[in-house]
Amino acid sequence: MTVSVLFVCLGNICRSPTAEVVFRDRVRAAGLEEHILIDSAGTGDWHIGRAPDPRTQDAAATRGYDMSSLRARQVSAADFEQFDVVLAMDDANLVDLQAMQPSDSAVTLKRFLDYAPHTSIREVPDPYYGGEDGFAQVLNLVEEGAEGLLEALRERL
Ligand code: 4NP
Repeated sequence: MTVSVLFVCLGNICRSPTAEVVFRDRVRAAGLEEHILIDSAGTGDWHIGRAPDPRTQDAAATRGYDMSSLRARQVSAADFEQFDVVLAMDDANLVDLQAMQPSDSAVTLKRFLDYAPHTSIREVPDPYYGGEDGFAQVLNLVEEGAEGLLEALRERL
């Protein structure tokens, strides 16, 4: 059995690619890389084809994650056929995805942090226009969400 997961934020250069690399790391550590397929995308089109934001890459590198090979892409209607689980980084992303979701789609569409076990925070804040702290906060929340998501997906395998 496999389950496929798509992380979605606005630009696909900060939050969702961070979720992609962190979750891939946890899935690999659990020996589940052949069972859990992972990708990320953005609702917006401004950064298509670009590498993650340098501030995001730097923050991730301090914790041992290499994001340099990722390139941004935009979420599309086809993603609702190709993925089992689509996870929004914030409520605005969720609303945008709900508007795109075909009526016959069986996708599980939720906020990523709905899976985070030890926090009541339910949105990963957009770090793009903020300071350095925002990027570390994204990593903290993403690492937390990844833990809970892995446990939840194990039950689908
Ligand atoms: P992300 O961050 O959605 O986490 O990738 C952003 C990246 C770019 C912009 C906004 C948020 N932007 O406005 O260009």
